[in-house]
Amino acid sequence: MQKKFRFFKSLRFRIMIILIIIGIVPSVIVATGVVQSYETRAVSLRSINVKNQCDILSNQLAAGDYLHNTDSQVINSQLTQLSNIYSGRIIIIDSDFKIIKDTYDLETGKTSVSEEVISCYKGTATSKYDKQNAYIEMTLPIQDVNTKATIGIMLVSVSTNEIAASVDILEQKSIIMLAIICVLVIAFGYILAGILVKPFARVTRSIEDLTDGYLDENISVPDYTETELITDAFNKMLTKVKTLDNSRQEFVSNVSHELKTPLTSMKVLADSLLGQENVPIELYQEFMQDIADEIDRESNIISDLLTLVKMDKKADQLNIDITNINDLLESILKRMTPISSRRNIELILDSFRPVQAEVDQVKLTLAISNLVENAIKYNVEDGWVRVSLNADHKYFYVTVADSGRGIPEASIEHIFERFYRVDKSHSTEIEGTGLGLAITRNAIVMHRGAIKVYSKENEGTTFSVRIPLIHIE
Ligand SMILES: Nc1ncnc2c1ncn2[C@@H]1O[C@H](COP(=O)(O)OP(=O)(O)O)[C@@H](O)[C@H]1O
Ligand SMILES: [Mg+2]
Repeated sequence: MQKKFRFFKSLRFRIMIILIIIGIVPSVIVATGVVQSYETRAVSLRSINVKNQCDILSNQLAAGDYLHNTDSQVINSQLTQLSNIYSGRIIIIDSDFKIIKDTYDLETGKTSVSEEVISCYKGTATSKYDKQNAYIEMTLPIQDVNTKATIGIMLVSVSTNEIAASVDILEQKSIIMLAIICVLVIAFGYILAGILVKPFARVTRSIEDLTDGYLDENISVPDYTETELITDAFNKMLTKVKTLDNSRQEFVSNVSHELKTPLTSMKVLADSLLGQENVPIELYQEFMQDIADEIDRESNIISDLLTLVKMDKKADQLNIDITNINDLLESILKRMTPISSRRNIELILDSFRPVQAEVDQVKLTLAISNLVENAIKYNVEDGWVRVSLNADHKYFYVTVADSGRGIPEASIEHIFERFYRVDKSHSTEIEGTGLGLAITRNAIVMHRGAIKVYSKENEGTTFSVRIPLIHIE
């Protein structure tokens, strides 16, 4: 990850942004709402006040016939007073749209036919607020005292400068408040987000600590369900890695030991020849034969190991062909006949039905051959080995049963382990590397099959194998 963008991609940053949005947006909405409703309220109060005053005045105008005679001192002074109070301007327009009085004295005598004036004549008094120029403008009809007919219009504009000033002050204050809220929310959000994501940092630290060497512990960060799930998953993986590491170590030490044994024997044999003088030729021949046997043993172990290592690769290493299993078993037994007949052991094949299956011929042959070879090797003189083949719609089943010495109950769970042999002392009597069944099981597992063993000491052993007819990727 690029360092530059690390913070912006972090959970902490995202939580912070959410907190800021939650904290600041409502404050902004509230502040603008308050300012705006203050302004609306102030303007409408001002309009009502002015209108009331003007209504009274307009009645006086009508009563005093001001529209035909603008000399009335009393009314003129009232007009001036009113316009002074609200720092505004009052214009009186008669029914000919002529301006007969302007408190500013700018437009007296002129004609005014503005939209508002006309609509007021028609009966709608208007009132409008010009925020930009800070004034309220309204029109009021002057009605005849008796007929109530509109005989003139009063056009009033009053300044709203103080309202605007108050709004400005309110706005400034709310900006300052918002700034303070922003700073607080950002600081608070940064700290809170930090607290919230801390357990995740603890997970990372725990994993790093483990990686640095304390491989024996499990990690635990139970602060959140999420962190607990992560650490649980990690612990599971750790257990797997440990198991793998142990079995790798064990395998290496077994291999070294097994490879060393023949070498030690050879060294002893060679040394004893070298240590003697005038060794008879017969002894030389005998010892050299022993050395040659040990070399064979060593090379058997190595070739079995190579087979096993190759098998350790994944199932996609299989070379699948549609195979006639009956033929395959028959040819295996045929190849085994020379060894079995040496000890007068009978090889029987029971094929209950013809079976075609998708298998790797080489690996399956190796697996079954190992079973048959064991059945012969660990058998008694004049014994028998019975191989059977059966199938259902999904699997085919091969069993290899023998009349041999059987496997002690305590050993059954170990026989598939690499280098395991039931009786080490027999290892000189019956040759073997202890790798055969490990190879067999690997080959069967690669086919997504299963192998089971039933055995009774001194009675015999049965291995049963189950393999899918159709290869599963
Ligand atoms: N059919 C069997 N009858 C009795 N013992 C058996 C049989 N098959 C395997 N075993 C025992 O299991 C051990 C492991 O077998 P295997 O892995 O083939 O190694 P190896 O045959 O080289 O000793 C053998 O040493 C033997 O003790
Ligand atoms: Mg074997």
